[in-house]
Amino acid sequence: MENKDISKVVDTKWRQKYHFMGENGWINDPNGLIYFRGKYHFFYQYNPHDAFWGEMHWGHAVSKDMLHWEYLPIALTPDKDYDHHPKGGCFSGSAIEHEGKLWVFYTGTINEGNGFVQHQCLAYSEDGVNFQKYAGNPIIEQPSWVEPAFFRDPKVWKKEEVFYMVLGANIKENGQALLYKSTNLFDWEFVNFMCESNGELGFMFECPDFFTVDGKDALIFSPMGLKNRTSLNLIGNLNYETGKFIWNSINETDWGHEYYAPQSFEDNKGRRILVAWANSWDWMPFWKDWGPTYKDGWCGHFNVPRVAHIDAKNRLSVEPIEELKQLRSDKKQLQHVSLSNQKLEIPMEDGCIYDMELMINRKKSTAKNFELHLRKGQGKETVVKIDFANQCMSVNKENSDGWSKGESKSPLYMDNDLFDMRILSDTISIEIFAENYFTNHSHNIYADENQNINYIYVENGVLEIEKLVTYKMNNCM
Ligand code: FRU
Repeated sequence: MENKDISKVVDTKWRQKYHFMGENGWINDPNGLIYFRGKYHFFYQYNPHDAFWGEMHWGHAVSKDMLHWEYLPIALTPDKDYDHHPKGGCFSGSAIEHEGKLWVFYTGTINEGNGFVQHQCLAYSEDGVNFQKYAGNPIIEQPSWVEPAFFRDPKVWKKEEVFYMVLGANIKENGQALLYKSTNLFDWEFVNFMCESNGELGFMFECPDFFTVDGKDALIFSPMGLKNRTSLNLIGNLNYETGKFIWNSINETDWGHEYYAPQSFEDNKGRRILVAWANSWDWMPFWKDWGPTYKDGWCGHFNVPRVAHIDAKNRLSVEPIEELKQLRSDKKQLQHVSLSNQKLEIPMEDGCIYDMELMINRKKSTAKNFELHLRKGQGKETVVKIDFANQCMSVNKENSDGWSKGESKSPLYMDNDLFDMRILSDTISIEIFAENYFTNHSHNIYADENQNINYIYVENGVLEIEKLVTYKMNNCM
């Protein structure tokens, strides 16, 4: 592929201040997330030659705190007959540490003239920097019963002395999570259809992820063919004997338009951390485009890493990692404010790059709804509506920036007298968390830097604000 000039990326207008991005070019899914030898390693789907998707490599960066990153040489380049194609390459996968080495599993995607074919491959590294592809690749050939172009995204974990792998597939138009197992990482045996769509879960599970937290098993995947749903989490129990996952609850991992293909890993502090690609694909109903950053030679970033927990009602909560608080400065705070029929401009040191916490006392409020107008200026704004009367929330991007479109909507649980929100705003990202991180909407907007007014608006009744705290977020990328 022809190499385009993507060297002008640094310091261009839309570069984020604290969200993980690639060095240049295009990035999509997080891959191979792992804490290895004292550092967090993030790999990612990467096209170093263009600001659009194509010829997938694995980019690589390391960090001690998931805030400050060092970019390392490309970990996987598509250069073998089993993983090389301009519209294929080294697709998504995961990492595991074993016997002191770092092992990565990925999907080689090729097309030899009869359509795309996918199979699973292995590479390893002694030093965590240089990777060697395994001579026996592919380690899992495509079974005859899956659709050839839909057999991908291996996520590997270890339970007792056995390694397990979940893969996403499409069989007869139904999405599948396929379970494999191995005792040596090289030889894999099919165990079972771990979870199958019966029409209700879409025709393909992209980037399935499986983990256990708080004594419960979670299967997360990005379904194709389910309209606006970008990431589902199924909570239940995996029977390791039979390989069947029985789920009893299903929910959105995030209701926003920019939250796709989350991958989880456990770090050295025992935290189960989820990281997602903050964008969407062109086949989604709300998709407009990938944003204007391609003009500057890059595209793609991740949502902030979030710590996963599952509560007694089988609900997944995802609180941003504590480390982000190190970036806070210039605290501003209001307490016990009663707001009626008015706008309250939110005091902020920086109206674009901020962390904000809001606590409403629903019991003491007579207002049945309120709005947050974010990144306002030049006649533009992003509007968040919290509607207690109808028990729902929405984020509207129709007038955000002259570029973005659409609205995300979700129900609210409203099972607490206090209603809390947190907003993490960066150059592009606007991640809105509510209800103890159970109800979340993640979006990208391309607002100008002088769109820096943020306010709360109450039309009828009184809104009792217990607390409103804002911080400027410092640059770490
Ligand atoms: C998800 C996905 C994966 C695939 C990768 C290719 O976003 O479509 O299923 O491995 O992206 O870049």
